[in-house]
Amino acid sequence: MIKVTVNAEQKKGKINKNIYGHFSEHLGRCIYGGIWVGKDSPIPNTDGMRNDVIEALKDMKIPVLRWPGGCFADEYHWMDGIGPIEKRPTMINTHWGGITENNHFGTHEFMRFCELIDAEPYINGNLGSGTVQEMQQWVEYMTFDGISPMANLRKENGQEQPWKLTYFGIGNENWGCGGNMEPEYYADEYRRYATYVRNFGENTVYKIACGPNGDNYNWTDVLMKKVANHMNALTLHHYTLPTGEWKVKGSATVFEENEWFSTMQKTLYMDEMITKHTAIMDKYDKDKKVALIVDEWGTWYDVEPGTNPGFLFQQNTLRDALVAGINLNIFNNHCDRVQMANIAQLVNVLQSVIFTEGDKMLLTPTYHIFKMFNVHQDAELLDTRVINDDYIVGDDKLPQVNISSSIDADGKIHISICNLDPIKPAELDCDLIGDIRTKVTGRIVTANEMNAMNTFDNPKTVTESQFVGAKLVKNNLTVTLPAKSVVVLEIA
Ligand code: AHR
Repeated sequence: MIKVTVNAEQKKGKINKNIYGHFSEHLGRCIYGGIWVGKDSPIPNTDGMRNDVIEALKDMKIPVLRWPGGCFADEYHWMDGIGPIEKRPTMINTHWGGITENNHFGTHEFMRFCELIDAEPYINGNLGSGTVQEMQQWVEYMTFDGISPMANLRKENGQEQPWKLTYFGIGNENWGCGGNMEPEYYADEYRRYATYVRNFGENTVYKIACGPNGDNYNWTDVLMKKVANHMNALTLHHYTLPTGEWKVKGSATVFEENEWFSTMQKTLYMDEMITKHTAIMDKYDKDKKVALIVDEWGTWYDVEPGTNPGFLFQQNTLRDALVAGINLNIFNNHCDRVQMANIAQLVNVLQSVIFTEGDKMLLTPTYHIFKMFNVHQDAELLDTRVINDDYIVGDDKLPQVNISSSIDADGKIHISICNLDPIKPAELDCDLIGDIRTKVTGRIVTANEMNAMNTFDNPKTVTESQFVGAKLVKNNLTVTLPAKSVVVLEIA
């Protein structure tokens, strides 16, 4: 029996809704085909953006969307993506498959898409191969409300009013595809570029510095030491690779329990990394003014056989649902430092929430987790203690369940629970400290097979349904979670 205590009288800070953010890159079929089909497409669209995708994202409550990359960002020259579409230059997407990029989706289209899905834009600037002037002008173009060369150009291109732009990234993975820099060198570059990212009028830019690759703690230390007072946030990128090897990462759909186990283990490593990066940040910033933003996370498998290796298209199974649930619980539990997270990537790429094929669209298991967990957005994290059981494979073990809980503005408590064990149900005995509660309801994502997935022929194999395995008597909750499942309980 797993013993849980949720203390509704001990609030531990607000869970920033931006933890439920997403990432869209000019990569494979994410932008083209996934979001943008063009105004003349027979696929129903608004200003060129797919209506089915817009509706699904609104329904999921997407709070923030990062764009245009990723590695693409540090080779993106924003002026290529403005003005009349037919005059925009065609270029090569050198990072992702060497395919043609016609720049039909640029700044105006991205901002419009964010309006349509009710999400805040998070734009990643080019520090790796762009100039300081180029970055300065992009921010001026988007946010200056007055007469200036850039503001005038924006108006000529049809946008009279400046946009509100808060989140701006100053480089991406500058330790790798963004210029292969040392942390000391990047810190100096960051300081220079950040100086010219101006606040115009009412617009205040929240400056985001490129943070570490996974467990590179030295990167965090150097950045915090040198430039903490010039930034609002530092990023962290960490992907879950079942084998831990980049050469052969493992299949998205064909795997046995040992790879299920290693995937869970490598996902839980996120908790250790955030804890250690936070400890370093605390050394320089005890008041937690600088946020940690996990702006790339999720599973990364070998591409689906027969697909373009540069497109990074992978299927999404029940295993991905568990990975999403675990990560989101980890971010919730670290909400004092983690203010945003962006799963990679939105449509048709790595751990996507949506797949499209021509005029068809489907929701992946990961989508259903984001939708179920949206009850935590902007809620208060609650103190939650767990005496866990083990999920054992051979000589290795992991905690069987992973949990976070929050209380929303209406006083409802939500507890999200992942049962990592693919064979054994989890039995929970949970005490709720606080006002007497009388009603528990729940939603669940599970399936018979570890690799159950949605396809265009069978789009609803893994979906959300009602959960009836919880009983509440005088603030004591007993829950039986099926093997390999994710549950969100609502206690009123
Ligand atoms: O998400 C795919 C790529 O992974 C991104 O472009 C890059 O930032 C990371 O290495």
